[in-house]
Amino acid sequence: MINAKLEEEFNEQINKELYSEYLYLAMKVYFMEQNLQGFVNWFDVQVQEEHAHAIGMFNYLNERGGKIDLRAIEKPVVEGKTPLEIFEQVLKHEQYVTSRINHLADVADEVKDRAALSLLDWYIKEQVEEEATVSGVLATLKLIGDDKNALLQLDKDLAARTFVAPVIG
Ligand code: FEO
Repeated sequence: MINAKLEEEFNEQINKELYSEYLYLAMKVYFMEQNLQGFVNWFDVQVQEEHAHAIGMFNYLNERGGKIDLRAIEKPVVEGKTPLEIFEQVLKHEQYVTSRINHLADVADEVKDRAALSLLDWYIKEQVEEEATVSGVLATLKLIGDDKNALLQLDKDLAARTFVAPVIG
C-alpha cells in the first residue's frame, strides 16, 4: 500500500502531466495556424510524451494499490504570440514541472518510500532532458530573431523529431 500523502501527490501530478499534454496541444494549434509543420510535429511528440508521463504514474499508482482520482483538467492558456514567446512559456512550464517532481520526491523521502523514489528518479532525469531540449530550441529562436529563412530552417529541423515510447521506471 502507498502512503496516503504520497497517493495524493501522485494523483495531483497525473493531473499536471495531463494538463501539460493539454497545454502543448493548445500550442500545437498556434503552430498549425502559422503553417509551421515542423513545430507542429515537435508539439505532437511533446503531447505524446506528456501522455506517457501521466500514464506512467497512473499505472504505478495502480500497481502500488493506490486509489486513482482523476481530476478536472484546467483550460490551457497560451501566453505567447510568437514562437520565441511560446518557447519561453514552455521552458517556464517545464521548470514548474521539475519543481513538482522534486516536491514529489521530497514527500517520498519523507515517508521513506524507496520504491516510489526509484520511479521518481526516472522522472527527475527526464526533466533534465526536457529542460535541455526546450532550452536548445529557445536559444536557436533567440539567434534567429526576425530572420524568416532561419525560422523555416528550424521548422525543417523540428520536423525530424520522432516519438519513442519511454520505458518508465
Ligand atoms: Fe511531463 Fe514535460 O514533463
